[in-house]
Amino acid sequence: MINLPLMDNNITREDVGFLIEFLQKNDIFTQNKNVVEFEKLWSQWLGVKHSIFVNSGSSANFITMAILKELYGEGEIIASPIGWSSDIAAIINAGHKPVFADVNLENLSMNDERIIEKITTNTKAVLLTHVLGFNALTDKLLKILKERNIPLIEDCCESHGATHKGQKIGTFGRISNFSFYYAHHMSTIEGGMICTDDEKLYQYARMFRSHGMTRECNSQEYKNEFENLYTETYPEFTFAVPGFNMRSTELNAVIGLNQLKRLDANNRSRYENFKLFVEQLDPGKYFTDFKLDGSINYAFILLVRNGDDELYQRVVKMFREENVEFRRGTAGGGNLARQPFLKKACPGVDAKKLTNAEYIHQYGMYLGNYPTLEKEKINMLCRKLNEL
Ligand SMILES: Cc1ncc(COP(=O)(O)O)c(C=O)c1O
Repeated sequence: MINLPLMDNNITREDVGFLIEFLQKNDIFTQNKNVVEFEKLWSQWLGVKHSIFVNSGSSANFITMAILKELYGEGEIIASPIGWSSDIAAIINAGHKPVFADVNLENLSMNDERIIEKITTNTKAVLLTHVLGFNALTDKLLKILKERNIPLIEDCCESHGATHKGQKIGTFGRISNFSFYYAHHMSTIEGGMICTDDEKLYQYARMFRSHGMTRECNSQEYKNEFENLYTETYPEFTFAVPGFNMRSTELNAVIGLNQLKRLDANNRSRYENFKLFVEQLDPGKYFTDFKLDGSINYAFILLVRNGDDELYQRVVKMFREENVEFRRGTAGGGNLARQPFLKKACPGVDAKKLTNAEYIHQYGMYLGNYPTLEKEKINMLCRKLNEL
């Protein structure tokens, strides 16, 4: 039996040890100096000016879309049909309209030509999801968005450490979002990060994270500006934007600080694992032309070739027999345009027209890839897959 769970040991005994020590020595557990320290070290690791720690990647998505509405108004957001529901839910809940652009099979992420085709005068932003550890950026896309002054928002929730031409993804967009959910490259149990170089977006993200209060700004300039603008309320309790409470806690930050120390080493192992997996698969049966340059995959992606339903069924049977945990249609369940919430909100969207997203929905699945995974298990898995 292969026995391959989706994730293993992502919160280590060492992390728990740090947490226990912190709990014994401290009495402030809500957002405080460890959160600030985690934000600082994360910004340094990524290479951005500002990071805002929140309680999930979805919260990062929700705050980002709310800021876009607050500062630029409602409009169309070009988004990926492969990814996670909160990307799309955040767009809809902020009053925007999602416009889907189909994806590539090579990196499961939106195709640059398809994105460019969808740009209209109503486009407020492109929300580019770097799917399952792949770099979704191209120079052409960056150039066009710059020329047309369309904000790029990067969703890096599944791609910590992936790079475009050697530069970390999450440093190209006006805002980038990360998730530290248990299954991802690193975990704070639950958690997320909003990152930006832009001072105004930073101050707004801080307000949205904490009820919309102006006192959450950490710039005196912004505080003064709001105080002069809003004279009918107390500066301690001026709610300037319709904010949330999406703060995290010191406990999650303590885990994050320890996890960050081993992120790069873990990512190297994940890259090696993924390469070994792809190199050994039979390219006649399974798609192996993935764009590995700059990728850091926390999952293996299995994509059956030629719409071979029978092979797909044999794979599912073998995984069940061998106790290999898997998810059909990749991490977010495949084509998000098929989901009931989306159909209700946007009845005009035709999921079937997103040809590659549909292919991934029907013939794709994902399996766990983590640093402690033994090479022998990868070899065994590929041997069994190739025999089917
Ligand atoms: C692409 C993407 N965006 C956003 C999220 C949401 O992150 P979280 O699970 O931390 O809410 C996820 C999910 O896990 C994701 O894969």
